[in-house]
Amino acid sequence: MTTGLFLSFEGIDGSGKSTQARMLADRLRAEGRDVILTREPGGSPGAEEIRALVLQGDPDRWSPETELLLFTAARRDHLERTIRPALAAGKVVICDRFADSTRMYQGRQGLRATVDQLHDLMIGTEPHLTILIDMDPVAALGRAKARATVEERFEDFGLDLQQQMRADFLALSREFSARIRVIDGNRAPETVADDVYATAIRQLDHAHG
Ligand code: ADP
Ligand code: TYD
Repeated sequence: MTTGLFLSFEGIDGSGKSTQARMLADRLRAEGRDVILTREPGGSPGAEEIRALVLQGDPDRWSPETELLLFTAARRDHLERTIRPALAAGKVVICDRFADSTRMYQGRQGLRATVDQLHDLMIGTEPHLTILIDMDPVAALGRAKARATVEERFEDFGLDLQQQMRADFLALSREFSARIRVIDGNRAPETVADDVYATAIRQLDHAHG
């Protein structure tokens, strides 16, 4: 049976996830591996449409529960149309954010149990390996703010909340210690990328003997 490898990147906004996901994809492709680089929310045509609904507009546009359903609907479509077919074809799937982001962002304020139930019911898939880019929130916020986009429903968290998210992500890495590896993002991109690559290669060697 061919099964590919499913890797996700997680971390607070501006921690360098997209940069590192891209660098890892480039490096693995240069080795001749078949790599799909994708992201959430999004990653399939339907999920990209849902992305605009959840990331643009008034911060009060959705109730917490409706927002959770939209992120989960996007993930289900992404899984059906993009991730599962690629894994079935033996590819490496690199995903910029996945279900851990929902545990962190929608699971706040007492909704974590609901997030987990919905995940079990509708997603039921975890990455083989998740790389958590850990990053000083002050620097991360500066990086995130430097980007001007229309996707700003979540960008006005402020420093206190970013600080809390960082702590919550680190707690999650202990909860899922077999799957989540923490890498210090507060270094030059190439240095971070070397650690990311070494971690991914260990997982690939493990998966394919
Ligand atoms: P994320 O996807 O986690 O929000 P990005 O990869 O988009 O983060 O990076 C946010 C910004 O910070 C981008 O402008 C990117 O070029 C820059 N950046 C990424 N990694 C580093 C790094 N290690 N050092 C300095 N700047 C970085
Ligand atoms: P993303 O485009 O990855 O933002 P960034 O590059 O700034 O990290 O994600 C946009 C926002 O969506 C981000 O603030 C986190 C949020 N998000 C959730 O709240 N729940 C989710 O399940 C996902 C995947 C993202």
